[in-house]
Amino acid sequence: MTGLPSGKGTPSIKKADALCAGTLPLNLDPALIMTDGTYEMDDRQFSVLQQLLTDRTGIRFRGRTHLSTKLSRRLRALGLADYGQYISLIRKQPGETAHAIEAVTTNETFFFRDGIHLGALENYLDRHLNPTRTFRIWSAASSSGEEAYSIAMTVHAWSAKREIPLHMVRITGSDIDRSVLRRAVEGVYHRCNIERTPADYKAFLMRYLEQDGGDCFSIKPHIKTMVRFKHFNLTQPLPFSRALDVIFCRNVFMYFGQSLRNEIFTGMHRVLRPGGLLVMGLCEPMPIELPLGFKYAGHSMYVKTE
Ligand SMILES: C[S@@+](CC[C@H](N)C(=O)[O-])C[C@H]1O[C@@H](n2cnc3c(N)ncnc32)[C@H](O)[C@@H]1O
Repeated sequence: MTGLPSGKGTPSIKKADALCAGTLPLNLDPALIMTDGTYEMDDRQFSVLQQLLTDRTGIRFRGRTHLSTKLSRRLRALGLADYGQYISLIRKQPGETAHAIEAVTTNETFFFRDGIHLGALENYLDRHLNPTRTFRIWSAASSSGEEAYSIAMTVHAWSAKREIPLHMVRITGSDIDRSVLRRAVEGVYHRCNIERTPADYKAFLMRYLEQDGGDCFSIKPHIKTMVRFKHFNLTQPLPFSRALDVIFCRNVFMYFGQSLRNEIFTGMHRVLRPGGLLVMGLCEPMPIELPLGFKYAGHSMYVKTE
């Protein structure tokens, strides 16, 4: 782990450039690689791969080009010639599926994204923290950790102002993609990750980071220890035995179909305590009808009413 950007967003290379630079494996037939560096995928291969990956992740793909753009990097890394070889490999080595999942997820995130939700969290803590029990917050698709650590920093500042002990609040982050989870656990971010922070939060964020002497910044240990990260797939039954107070499930529903969104919404309703808060991404598609038992609280937030 380096703490450097994962490189998933690396622009695809042009076939000619790649061949000149020797970045394509020598056994590749250039005819199977398109000018943008993606591999050709036929309808049958698309059907096999999208069935496997949509089944595992809930993520829907717009078509062959979309899926191939996501997976081509993995084929290049493995030195495979085409999707036929990749499908055979996945069938022989089921462990490859985890790598395919890492390749198809979109992990875009940054510190203090949609700060309005963090302000709402502070207000919610003011009204609902009960000193007799632990207050539980879940960042349900936490990617490389920026969301969960932004929550932790917000809670830390909030509790310091009110002299409330921090151990009253427990924060869990989870994601399906193990590569971003490793980065979250490490808690080291490159300057590029920091630069995306909204200007009005930058100084606040910097209070909780230590520079390593170069271009990397670590989350300070007292914030790191406030968050636990777990691997969790939202298509599975939700794993909580104790009721949660707040769930952040932002910018992931947009990748799912309507019936999975409704299922997850219903599951989240079940694991929230009455009065609990569900926070979705600001641009997130809403369930067609507001599921029973939630009241819309504005800015893509829902309160469990019953
Ligand atoms: C665009 S990021 C959003 C990160 C953060 N919540 C935010 O709003 O900045 C979406 C995350 O959802 C994760 N994801 C996609 N499908 C998932 C699933 N079935 N279960 C859990 N996480 C999933 C991806 O790996 C990715 O890290």
